[in-house]
Amino acid sequence: MAREILVTSALPYANGPLHLGHLVEYVQTDVWVRFQRLRGHRCLYVCADDAHGTPIMLRARQEGIPPEALIERVGREHREDFAAFRIGFDQYHSTHSEENRELAELIYRRLKAGGHIVERVVRQAYDPEEGLFLPDRYIRGTCPRCGTPEQYGDSCEACGATYSATELKDPVSVLSGVRPVERESVHYFFRLRDFEPMLRRWVAEGGHLQPEVARKLQEWFDQGLQDWDISRDAPYFGFEIPDAPGKYFYVWLDAPIGYMASFKAWCRRTGADFDAFWRPDSQAELYHFIGKDIVYFHALFWPAMLEGAGFRKPTAIFAHGFLTVNGQKMSKSRGTFITARRYLEHLDPEALRYYLAAKLGPGVEDLDLNLEDFVQRVNSDLVGKVVNIAARCAGFITRGFEGRLAEGLEAPALQEAFVAEGEAIARLYEGRAYGQAMRAIMALADRANRYIDEARPWVLAREGGQEARLQAVCTQGLNLFRLLMIYLKPVLPRIAEEAEAFLADGPWTWEDLGRPLLGRAIRPYRPLMTRLDPARVQALVAASREDLAPRRADGGAPGRPGRGGGQGGLEREAPQGYASLQDLERLDLRVARILKAEPVEGADRLLRLVVELGRGDRRTVLAGIRGAYRPEELVGRLTVVAANLPPRKMRFGTSEAMVLAAGSGRGGLWLLTPDEHRPHAPEPGTPVR
Ligand code: 2FM
Ligand code: ZN
Repeated sequence: MAREILVTSALPYANGPLHLGHLVEYVQTDVWVRFQRLRGHRCLYVCADDAHGTPIMLRARQEGIPPEALIERVGREHREDFAAFRIGFDQYHSTHSEENRELAELIYRRLKAGGHIVERVVRQAYDPEEGLFLPDRYIRGTCPRCGTPEQYGDSCEACGATYSATELKDPVSVLSGVRPVERESVHYFFRLRDFEPMLRRWVAEGGHLQPEVARKLQEWFDQGLQDWDISRDAPYFGFEIPDAPGKYFYVWLDAPIGYMASFKAWCRRTGADFDAFWRPDSQAELYHFIGKDIVYFHALFWPAMLEGAGFRKPTAIFAHGFLTVNGQKMSKSRGTFITARRYLEHLDPEALRYYLAAKLGPGVEDLDLNLEDFVQRVNSDLVGKVVNIAARCAGFITRGFEGRLAEGLEAPALQEAFVAEGEAIARLYEGRAYGQAMRAIMALADRANRYIDEARPWVLAREGGQEARLQAVCTQGLNLFRLLMIYLKPVLPRIAEEAEAFLADGPWTWEDLGRPLLGRAIRPYRPLMTRLDPARVQALVAASREDLAPRRADGGAPGRPGRGGGQGGLEREAPQGYASLQDLERLDLRVARILKAEPVEGADRLLRLVVELGRGDRRTVLAGIRGAYRPEELVGRLTVVAANLPPRKMRFGTSEAMVLAAGSGRGGLWLLTPDEHRPHAPEPGTPVR
């Protein structure tokens, strides 16, 4: 019976490029969706950009554009990358959409009417200079437990302690560098505990979660469920909460609702029935593919919100692990932080799809992309085994038989054995055991090659008088190839499509397994895939290392590390307490000449400087050095500036670089000057190393 299935992948944030860590999830989901469609089920796949929240608001500010423009641009880039990797969404939407606003308001109102929303005053760190409440990740300070400096506001990377930002010693705002103050504000909370009995049942029923994830939930139940803070104060980029001016839905409230919103947009386009799908008694299936880091949101908050608002709950949540490259966390300095874009410039997306599939299993273990193994495996499996079967057989058919296949199968038992594997392979796909599925398929490919080795069509062709057998053998070879390609179609959509064209057959479904291809013409064979060149992989790594080169105003917002495994955050490569060489190289320190200096009206610590950084690069700098220097003594002199810090918006204007000075500001302050006891002074723009 045809199933009706809705599938989602987690929504990528709309403030940065997709990278290989993201692709693990989209490939995993896409393979599953394509498999279901191949089996004849109605399977829809929706996703969207996750467009709200403080990091996106700040990123847009840094770029000097409205957030709407930022999410528009990033959304476009995401769509292009997804299309190139053949991630086959039926709908790719945005959480900043009318559908999502309507649904978020609806769900909130229903939760509120049910008594599940409470108000509470919270004290929170506030940046008086930037005029906003600071998420924990935007505060750094000394760990209250072990005393390690420079720790984030929620946890210590040295001792693992978790705490609230107000407990940090000597806290500073990452945005302005000033000490945050504590401020009170009313927040809205979702009473998760109201749903505890339902959630406990839902987890215990089984089937909704992987066993290891269910165990994690048990731990969370044992620790006690906390109310969830779902509001944020202005300024915030998101949806304003109904009847609560100046209060916004926290990005994580409307993010999962984005799944529904995307589906709703699809329903609007196609006339499908949204409500029939989301009714509590709906028979349709709903699956969320996510990374293991966001289980809490999906396995606790989300089912509780759905239940509280009178909607159906997910059929299952499938969590996966993170991607490592060459056994380590993706790293910009090693060139293994590879964006989707960069990958596409150098390599075939189907190669990555295959390799990831070969590594993926049903659990939450991390998976490793070993670049050497990648090249070796793709070349040996796809090029050497699968595609090679077609290459070995096609020419004889084209040259000797005008492209016509024989009328019968030469090895029906072998054909039968291939078809008989279908159910086992289908079970592996269904259970997301893709690695095992790929191994089963490659074992068949080995058998197909052995068949051809033994039948020796090249000898038959040479000897003459064996035409009928030659045609039969090659027809059989191509039929085995066809079966393999049907099995691989969820993983290799491009190659499968070209194989369909080559065999003048398809689009294939699972049912085509039982129908051999006989007595008809095929088209001339053109290579379906070429060998991966290790040099291309090296070029990709080198190019990814270059992505590290300092770029101005590249405000990689602090915040949760990028999805897919702690990648994308600040790297920690040097031992604790040391900076790495890369940390240093990341700073663009340059000699600058001060062209202009003047006091800043209303700010008794600040001077406004205009500095020249070489090649005509002039910047305005607001420097807190007024107590130590008179403007006129600065004009014309050389000093050192950090040139690639994000521009800092202050009350008195934007500061576009930072001058370096010795001293704390209390006991005196001295600007740095390149050594002047030398025959020549350095030019503005000279790098400091
Ligand atoms: O972790 C993330 O990258 C989030 N943007 C995922 C959101 S998934 C869903 F809840 F929207
Ligand atoms: Zn600590």
